[in-house]
Amino acid sequence: MMKRTHWCGSLRPEHVGEEVVLSGWVLRRRDHGGVIFIDLRDRSGIVQVVFEPTTAPEAHEVAHRLKPEYVLAVRGRVRRRPEGMENPKIPTGEVEVEARELEILNASRTPPFPLDEEVPVSEALRLRYRYLDLRRPGGLEPFLLRHRVAQAAREFLNRQGFLEIETPFLTKSTPEGARDYLVPSRLYPGKFYALPQSPQLFKQILMVAGVERYYQIVRCFRDEDLRADRQPEFTQLDLEMSFVDEDDVMELVEGLVAHIFGEALGVELPRPFPRLTYAEALSRFGTDRPDLRFGMELREVSEVFRGTSFKVFAQVLEKGGIIKGLAAPADFSRKELDELTAFVGQFGARGLAWIRVREDGFQSPIVKFFSEETLRKLKEVFRPEPGSTLFFVADRAEVVNEALAELRGELARRLGLIPEGQFRFCWIVDFPLVEWDEEEGRFVAVHHPFTAPREEDIELLEEAPERVRSRAYDLVLNGVEIGGGSIRIHRKDVQERVFRLLAISEEEAREKFGFLLEALDYGAPPHGGLAFGFDRLVMLMGGYRSIREVIAFPKTQRAQCLLTGAPAEVTMEQLLDLHLLPGWEKE
Ligand code: AMO
Ligand code: AMP
Repeated sequence: MMKRTHWCGSLRPEHVGEEVVLSGWVLRRRDHGGVIFIDLRDRSGIVQVVFEPTTAPEAHEVAHRLKPEYVLAVRGRVRRRPEGMENPKIPTGEVEVEARELEILNASRTPPFPLDEEVPVSEALRLRYRYLDLRRPGGLEPFLLRHRVAQAAREFLNRQGFLEIETPFLTKSTPEGARDYLVPSRLYPGKFYALPQSPQLFKQILMVAGVERYYQIVRCFRDEDLRADRQPEFTQLDLEMSFVDEDDVMELVEGLVAHIFGEALGVELPRPFPRLTYAEALSRFGTDRPDLRFGMELREVSEVFRGTSFKVFAQVLEKGGIIKGLAAPADFSRKELDELTAFVGQFGARGLAWIRVREDGFQSPIVKFFSEETLRKLKEVFRPEPGSTLFFVADRAEVVNEALAELRGELARRLGLIPEGQFRFCWIVDFPLVEWDEEEGRFVAVHHPFTAPREEDIELLEEAPERVRSRAYDLVLNGVEIGGGSIRIHRKDVQERVFRLLAISEEEAREKFGFLLEALDYGAPPHGGLAFGFDRLVMLMGGYRSIREVIAFPKTQRAQCLLTGAPAEVTMEQLLDLHLLPGWEKE
C-alpha cells in the first residue's frame, strides 16, 4: 500500500509541483471524454484528482472501474486548476492532483443513500448505516466539536488540581429518580447489578476518601421516556470538590464553561452568569429552565381580574387557581389563534384567552366582560404596543406556568425572536428541598436525597418542609438544563432527618445507601459538586437539534440501536446461566 503523505483537504496552491500520496474514499466520479475526475475524500475534506489517458494510461484504465465509496491510494502531482475551473466552494478548490499511480484498496457496495449531496435521508436509515452517515461530508463535525470540548474541559480541570477517576458501571441502584437498567448476576441467583444513573454516591465517597477534587467524563444509564434531549445512555461531565460552598462550585464551573467556549468556539462569555431564584424563574418564565434570549416575560394578573364577570376566570380564581399572561409583539389571524389554543391544550390548558391591542383600544370577544379599570391595569402591567396580542391562561398554577412557558417558546420560534449564535446562561438557585408527590402521598426530593438544606432552613425540616430551600443549583443554557449540582449533606443527623422527611425508613436507607451513610460517619468533609449533561452542552454549542446528532451511536426514541439491533433476544443457555428461567436450572 502506498503511504499517505498529505490529507486530501490540506492541499493549497503552495503545494503546487509537489508529489503527494493521498488515501480516501471516492465521493464521485465524472467521465469527461477521456479524462476522469474523482472527488477524493478523507476526514479532512475533498480534493479533485484527475486521471489522464496520455500521462498515466495504467491508472486511467483502472480509474474506469471506480465507483462511489471505493477506497483508494493515489500518487500524483499537485497542480493549479486551469483558469475558470476553480471551485471556490471547497478549500482545495484552486488545485487538483494529476494522478500517476492508483491503487484500489477496497470496493464498496452501492450505498443505500447518496453521500455526495444534501438529500433528505430518514433518521432510521441514517442510524441503520451510521458509518456511512458519519462518512458524509461534514458528518464528523459534531465529533470534532465534542472532542475539542472534552479536551478543553480536561485541560481546565487538570490545571485546577482535579483527578480523573473512574467509578463502576456494575453497581447498586443510584438515587437519581429514573428507572434502573439491571444486569442479572450469574454467580448470585436472583441478584442484580444496576447500571449507574450517575456516579453520585461514588463521587461523594471519593470525597470521604480524601480525593478533594474529582472529575470524570462518564456514561450514565436511565430507563426513562426519551425526548430530543434525552437518551437511555448519556454522558456526564461530573465533578465534586471538598471544603467548598455554593459560590466556590459555581465560580469554578463558570471558569470551566468559559474556558470550553473560548477553546472550542472562540466565544467569550460574559461573567458572572446571572442567578435567578427558583421562585423568580417560575414567576417570570413559568419554568426553572428559562430561555433568556428573548423577552415576553409572564406576568401574574390574578388580582387584576379578581371580581370579574368573565365566568372562566372567575371560577378559576374561586377555586384557588391563578391567571397569568404575556404580551406577544405581533397580531395573529383567527386560524393562528386557534392553533395556539390547541398548542397550549397539549399542556393541560383548557383554553387560551387573547386580546388584540389596537391603536383605538383592545379587541377580543371577552373584553366586554372587563371594566375600564381592569383594562387600564392590563395596560399598566404589559405596556403593550399597538399591533401586539395579550395571551392569558387561567388554571392551577402548575398548568398555567407550563402552558405559558411553552407558549412563550412557541411564539418566539414562530415570530423569529430567537437570535442565532447567542449563548445565554443562568443559574437557578434556592430550589425547594422537597415537593409533595400526590401519587405517592409523600414528600420527594427535588434533586436527590443527599442534597443539603440551607443552614438557616434546617429548623423547618419537620414543621414546614415545603418551605425548606436546598443548596442546589442548576445551570441553564438557552432554555435547556445543561447541569445540576448541590452542596451535599455531610452530617449524619441531618441526613437522617431528611430521610425521615422523605419517608425513607432507616431500614430502607441502610439497605439502599448503607455504604454511603457509613462512609459519612468516618470523617466526611463538607463537599459539593455538579454534573453537566455533556451531550446537551455539545448539542447547544454546535447548534444541533437533538443530542442524537452528537452521539456516535445513539438510540432511537424507542430506545433501540438500529445499527446493532439491540435490544435483542439471547439464547436459552444464557437465560439459564443467569437464572432467569424460574423452575429451570442447568444440570
Ligand atoms: P442530574 O440528574 O440533574 O444530576 O443530571 C445532570 C445533567 O445530566 C443531563 N441529563 C441527561 N442528558 C441526556 N439524557 C438524559 N436521559 C439525561 N438525564 C440527565 C442533564 C442534567 O442537568 N448526580 C447529579 C449531579 C450532582 O448533583 O452533582 C445528577 O446526575 O443536563
Ligand atoms: P368560552 O367562554 O369557553 O368560549 O371561552 C372564551 C375564551 O376564553 C376562549 O378564547 C377560550 O379559549 C378562553 N378560555 C377558556 N378557558 C380558559 C382558561 N382556563 N384560561 C384561559 N382562557 C380560557
